[in-house]
Amino acid sequence: MSDTVQEIREKIDIADFLKGYLRLSPAGKNFKANCPFHQEKTPSFIISSEKQIWHCFGCGAGGDVIGFLMRYENIEFIEALKILAEKAGIDFHRQGTSDQKQYARFYEINAAAKDFFKLQLAASDFAKTYLKERGLKPETIEEFELGFAPDGRDVLVSHLAKRGYSINDIEKAGVIIKSDRGTYYDRFRKRIMFPIYNHFGKVIGFTGRIMPSDNDAALAKYVNSPETPIFNKSKVLYGLHKTKNQIRESSQAFLVEGQMDFLMCWQAGINNAVATSGTALTSEHLKILKRLAGTLILAFDADEAGQLAAEKTIDMAGALDFAVNVFGIDDKKLKDPADVAQNNPELLKKYLQEAKPAMEYLFEKYLIKNNASGLVNQKRGIRVLLAKIKNLYSPVERAQWIKKLSVHTGIGEGPLLEEMDAIESATHITPQNNEAGNEQKVFINKSRKDVVAQRLLSLVSADARFFSEAKLVRDFLPEAYKQVLAAMESSSSPAAKEIADLAVLISLRSSLELQRPSEKMREEFQDLLKQLEFEHLKERREMLAVTIKNAEEKGDEKALTDALKEFDLISKKL
Ligand code: CTP
Ligand code: MN
Repeated sequence: MSDTVQEIREKIDIADFLKGYLRLSPAGKNFKANCPFHQEKTPSFIISSEKQIWHCFGCGAGGDVIGFLMRYENIEFIEALKILAEKAGIDFHRQGTSDQKQYARFYEINAAAKDFFKLQLAASDFAKTYLKERGLKPETIEEFELGFAPDGRDVLVSHLAKRGYSINDIEKAGVIIKSDRGTYYDRFRKRIMFPIYNHFGKVIGFTGRIMPSDNDAALAKYVNSPETPIFNKSKVLYGLHKTKNQIRESSQAFLVEGQMDFLMCWQAGINNAVATSGTALTSEHLKILKRLAGTLILAFDADEAGQLAAEKTIDMAGALDFAVNVFGIDDKKLKDPADVAQNNPELLKKYLQEAKPAMEYLFEKYLIKNNASGLVNQKRGIRVLLAKIKNLYSPVERAQWIKKLSVHTGIGEGPLLEEMDAIESATHITPQNNEAGNEQKVFINKSRKDVVAQRLLSLVSADARFFSEAKLVRDFLPEAYKQVLAAMESSSSPAAKEIADLAVLISLRSSLELQRPSEKMREEFQDLLKQLEFEHLKERREMLAVTIKNAEEKGDEKALTDALKEFDLISKKL
C-alpha cells in the first residue's frame, strides 16, 4: 500500500490534478485558488507543485493530493487511493490487500446488477409504460440507467452467481437477502430500479419503487439497498455526480426529497438539484453541499411530515451558514417538484425563482398565522423564532432578523435579545469540520502572535528588503519563528520537522503576498511590526503581573518596585 501512495505521489502532479476541480491562477512559483472548503472571494488556497501539497491560509486546512480528494469528495483513504491509482495507471488490485479487492468486487456486483436491471426494463412493456406515464423521457432513463427488477424469488441471485460472484460477496454488496432458512433471495422484486451513484458516478446501491398495481399491498413504496462498505447513506446525495459542477457554478443547490423529483428537475433543465436517498438528511450531506454552494433551496412535501423535515433542515442549514430558501407550491393538486415538473416545467422554474428566505417562511408560520390564535400562541411563536435566530451562524443575520421581529411584534430589540439569550438554540452543530484525515493540523490554533509572526515572515520571504528590519524584532518572535528566520538567513532547511513544516508554510504564504503592489506590502509590514511589538508587550506585561504577585507574597521590595516600574512603562506604551 505504501508503494501505491509513493507511486501516486510520483505520477500525479498535484497542480495538474487540482485543475480538474478548481480554477488555479499562478502565484509566484505556486498556484492559488479560492478555497473549496470555506467561502471566500479572494484566494487564500495555495498549491505547491514543488512540495506536492496544498494549504489554505483562510481556514487552515491542508495536505497532499490524497487528503484533498478525501476531503473534497468526502471519501475514505482507500477510495481516494483507488481513484488516484486508476488515474495514474497503477494497477491497484495487483497490489491491493484482500480487503481492497473485496471493495472492488462490491462495485462490480452493483454494476452487474444495474446492467441486469437495465436489460429487464428494456424487455418489460409494463415497466416502460409506467415510466412514460410518470413523464420520464427515454434520454433521462438512459442517462440515469433506470431499470426494472423482475418478479421472482431469485432471478438476480442466479444471474450474478452464474457470472462467478460468490454468494457471500453478493449478499454483502446489498442486492440480495439471506433468509432465516439460510437460502438467498432477491432484495428487489417487481420494482422500478434507480441506481444510486457515488459522487464519481459509480453505482453503489439502489432504490426500488413499487409498481402502481401493487400500491394497496402492504409493501413499502420504496426499498433501498442496506448500508454496505461502499454505500454510506448519510453521505451520499442522489444525482450529485451529475450536478456538482452546476451547483458550484451557481453556488446554489436545490434539495429535493426523492429520485423522481431529481429526475424530473433534470429533465426540466434544472441541473443543480440533489436528493437524499432512503434516509433523512444529515449534517454530513449538508457539509458536502456547503463546499459547493452558499445557498440551499429546500423542497419538501406539503404534508405534516414534510413540514417537520423542512424545519429541521432549515435549522441544520442555518447553523452551517447556508442562506436557505424555501420552495413553495401553491397548487394543492401538486404534491412535490416531480408533480410540478410533470404538470408544467416552466412552473417549476417559476417556483424556484420565487423561493423565499427560510426565515420569512418561519415568520409567516409562527407569527402571522399564529397572530389570530391568541396571546399565548403568539408568545410561543416568538420564542420559537428566537431559537431559530439564535441558531443562525452569522451575527449580522441574527441582528437583521431580530430587527424584523421587533418591527413585526412591536417588542423592543433589547427585550428580544434578552429573551433570546435565555433560550436554547435550535441545533448544536459545529460549522467547521476538521476531522478529515491526512491533513496537517499543526498551526491551526494559532495565537494572535503566531498569526502576526507568520504574516511578517512570509513578507520577508516574498521580499528580501524586509530582512534587516525583521532581524531587529527577532526577540519578539515566538521561538519557532526565530528558528525559521535563522534558516532563511543561512538559506538552509531547518533540521526539526516541525520547524521545517513551518518554513514551508511560510514560503507558500509568501506566494500570496507576492501578488500585491510593493507599497501595500511595505504598509502591511510596518503595521505587522507594530502589532508584533504590541503582542510582545502584552505578553511581557502578563508575565510582570505574575512577578509582582510573587514579589508581594515574598515581601521582596526591590523586585516589586522594579516590576511595578516596568509594568507602568509598558502600560503607557500600550
Ligand atoms: N423513501 C424511502 N422509503 C419509503 C418511502 C420513501 O426511502 N418507504 C424515500 C425515497 O427516496 C423517495 C423519497 O423518500 O423518493 C420521498 O418519498 P415519497 O414522497 O413518498 O415518494 P416520491 O418521491 O413522491 O415518489 P413517487 O413520486 O414515485 O410516488
Ligand atoms: Mn412524488
